Amino acid sequence: MAKEQPFLTDVETLRAQARANIDQGPVTSNYEGDVKQTIDVLQTVLATEIVCVLRYTMNAVAASGVSSASVRQEFEEHAKEEQEHMRAVAERINQLGGTPNFNPEGLATRSASQYVEGSNLIDMIKENLVAERIACDHYRELIRFFGEKDPTTRVMMESILTNEEEHANDMLDLLAAQQGSPKSLKADSGRAS
Ligand SMILES: [Fe+2]
Ligand SMILES: [Fe+2]
Repeated sequence: MAKEQPFLTDVETLRAQARANIDQGPVTSNYEGDVKQTIDVLQTVLATEIVCVLRYTMNAVAASGVSSASVRQEFEEHAKEEQEHMRAVAERINQLGGTPNFNPEGLATRSASQYVEGSNLIDMIKENLVAERIACDHYRELIRFFGEKDPTTRVMMESILTNEEEHANDMLDLLAAQQGSPKSLKADSGRAS
């Protein structure tokens, strides 16, 4: 006996749904997220990423001198990757029908992480590490929030989170190298959350 497959929408219905509201592009009838809320949340992520681009770029410029060449290179690389995150988030906001907010006004307030320059190399590394840890916490929460409601946004955030964890680890390694105490630093840095 033929069993129905209740989890699948029949083809006729799928076709009809796809033809309705074509102006919503990729947001179709079974999108279970709240589009407006998703866009609002992604604007915060966008601001966070812009602040990260600015901070790493500033650090890469400021970390001049032969002794900091390797640190500078790391800052450069992170600035480039933060820019890729920024672009991906902006594209997603656009796909969902929103306008990515690149307005410099209010940027620091919209961002989860702060823009702290750091007056020397070690402070710069520490501030980047703090910013990465904020991003990791924030993005993990968002991934849980998006869950199955918006798999595309979730997968994008998972990919960004993977990269932010690498960034945090890079900063921790740099800090250890600069301070010359890798083991104790690693041992003291167990996650509190
Ligand atoms: Fe990022
Ligand atoms: Fe990062």
